[in-house]
Amino acid sequence: MYNQSELREIVNKTLVNISYNSEAPRLIDPVRYIISMGGKRIRPVITLMACNLFNDKIDNAVFPAAGLEIFHNFTLVHDDIMDQADVRRGFETVHSKWNINQAIISGDVMAFIANECFMLAPPDLVLNVFKVFNKAAIEVCVGQQMDIDYEKAAIVSQEEYLRMIELKTASLLAASVRIGALIGGANEKDTGLLYDFGKNIGVAFQIQDDLLDIWGDTKMFGKSKGGDITANKKTFPLIKAFETASGEVKKQLHLLFSGTETIDPEEKIRQVTEIYDQLKIREITENLAEDYIDKAFQILHQVSIGEERKKEISKLASSLIGRRS
Ligand code: IPE
Ligand code: IPE
Ligand code: MG
Ligand code: MG
Ligand code: MG
Repeated sequence: MYNQSELREIVNKTLVNISYNSEAPRLIDPVRYIISMGGKRIRPVITLMACNLFNDKIDNAVFPAAGLEIFHNFTLVHDDIMDQADVRRGFETVHSKWNINQAIISGDVMAFIANECFMLAPPDLVLNVFKVFNKAAIEVCVGQQMDIDYEKAAIVSQEEYLRMIELKTASLLAASVRIGALIGGANEKDTGLLYDFGKNIGVAFQIQDDLLDIWGDTKMFGKSKGGDITANKKTFPLIKAFETASGEVKKQLHLLFSGTETIDPEEKIRQVTEIYDQLKIREITENLAEDYIDKAFQILHQVSIGEERKKEISKLASSLIGRRS
C-alpha cells in the first residue's frame, strides 16, 4: 500500500508532466503558477488512497486524481476573486499578480484541462467518473453562491451554514473519494459509504479552515488572517458567537457586522477575535469539527475491508483537523 507522501509525489509528478497547451503562454502561465505553488493535494491523494483500499494498482486513478486537483485549483483562483483575497499558499493570488480578467480565463481553462484528465479514466468508467465529478462541480457553484449571498444576510442559521459548506467544500472531497473507490473496483455499498465518509471529513475540513482564518499562523496557513471577518463571511465561529453572545457584546457584534460602521479592517478583526476568545468560540468550533471526523470514522468502519488496510486513509482524515495549513 502507498503512504501519503508517496501518493503526493505521484500527484505532483503527474501535475508537472501534463502538457498544458503552450500556444498561449499568457493563458497558461497563471495555471502553472498556481499549480506549482503547492497546496496539500488532499483531494487527489484521497482519490488514490480510496483506490488503493481496493486495489494494489492505482495507475488508472492517477489522471482523474490530477483532474480533481486541477479543478480544485480553478475554484481557488475564482474564489480569490470573489473573496478579494490577495494571498494564497503564501504567494500573491492570480488576480493580484495578473488581473481579474486573466484570473477568470486562466481559471476557466483549468476546468477544461481537468475534464481532459477525467477522460483518461478507464473507458468503461469514464461516464461514471464524469457523473460523480459533474454533480460535485455544480454543488460547488451552488455552495459558493450561498457563501456570497450570506455575506449580505444579517443572520444565517447553523443549518444553513452546514448546508453551504457541504456544497462548496465537502462535495468535491466526497466525489474525490468516490471516484477513487470506483476506479479501485469497490462495490456499490462501499462506494456509497466512502462518499459519505468524504462528506463528513469535508465538512470538518471547512470548519477547520474557518477556524484557521482566525487563529491560524499566517505563515503556515498561507492566506491573509481575518479575511472572513473583513468579508462578513458567515462562518461557524461567527454564527456561534451571535448565538452565545448577550447584552453589550451582542450589540457590539451586530454593530461590527452591520456595515454601517466605518471601521479599519485590522481593528475589526481585533475586536471580533477578542469577542470570540471571550465566548470560547475556538473550543466550540474544534469540538464540532471533531464530531464530524468521529462520524466519518464510524462510516469508514463499515466499509467491507480489513481495518489494517484503512490505516493510511484514517491517518489522513485525522490530520485534517488540528492541521495548521
Ligand atoms: C482551500 O482548500 C479551500 C477550502 C475548501 C477550504 P485547501 O486547504 O485544500 O487548499 P490547498 O490546496 O491545500 O492550498
Ligand atoms: C472556499 O472556501 C471553498 C471553495 C470552493 C474554493 P473559502 O473561501 O473559505 O476558502 P479559502 O479560505 O479562500 O481557501
Ligand atoms: Mg470563499
Ligand atoms: Mg476564499
Ligand atoms: Mg477559508
